[in-house]
Amino acid sequence: PGKSDLAGVRVLVSAGPTREAVDPVRFLTNRSSGKMGFAVARAARDRGAQVVLVTGPVSLADPPGVEVVRVETAEEMRTALRDRFAACDVLVMAAAVADFRPVGYSPAKLKKGEHAGGLRLELEPTRDILSELATLRSQQVLVGFAAETEASLDRAREKLRAKGVDLLVLNDVTQPDAGFEVDTNRAILLGRSGEVEPLPLLRKEEVAHRLLDRVVALHGPTTPR
Ligand code: PMT
Repeated sequence: PGKSDLAGVRVLVSAGPTREAVDPVRFLTNRSSGKMGFAVARAARDRGAQVVLVTGPVSLADPPGVEVVRVETAEEMRTALRDRFAACDVLVMAAAVADFRPVGYSPAKLKKGEHAGGLRLELEPTRDILSELATLRSQQVLVGFAAETEASLDRAREKLRAKGVDLLVLNDVTQPDAGFEVDTNRAILLGRSGEVEPLPLLRKEEVAHRLLDRVVALHGPTTPR
């Protein structure tokens, strides 16, 4: 039997990539497989939490005992999380939300013949879900992830502050055994009051448990509701 230190705690988790359509057959996305976010959802469930998992398009099956909400775009993910935010105690944003989306959606398939000289796609920024939810928080503990291609603690600290989160999980996504798609991750946990905890190479399940240990410390011992 595992720990039940999240008994009754309502944990909202995001996972996976988002898809931003260009036309009916094409979209922009990223390499997120959903494994990290799903691992957090399962780990929280195993520790007694009531878990809602909002995920972009991934090929992973619904974890038993977790309420799963499947979305596609960054805007759909934003709405799904916003709708559920007030009723959660902890938010863990492991999703790789698109930062940009195509400005215009073409309802007809873009044809090669009509763009023989090349095609220029115009992109606009999406809204930052985590920063927005941080402004709406009441009692929630907020955990963000940071996918970086050069692990800089200074940049990560800046992100932690800018996003208004309590804990930031920094992963260097250039390493072959960490970040996107693989079953392992190498992360550094950064706390709001300056704590830095580098984790060794671990399975994503174990990274999830380590970050939840920090959440338990921030949230305080479970109180029955
Ligand atoms: O899914 P896997 O294949 O297992 O890969 C795991 C992972 C690499 C995707 C995961 O560990 C990870 O790092 N997730 C966050 C990826 C990311 O988008 O990082 P970022 O540095 O661009 O964003 C920082 C934080 O802001 C993230 O918590 C992100 O969810 C959030 N964000 C970003 C953009 C946006 N529009 N809204 C947001 O809320």
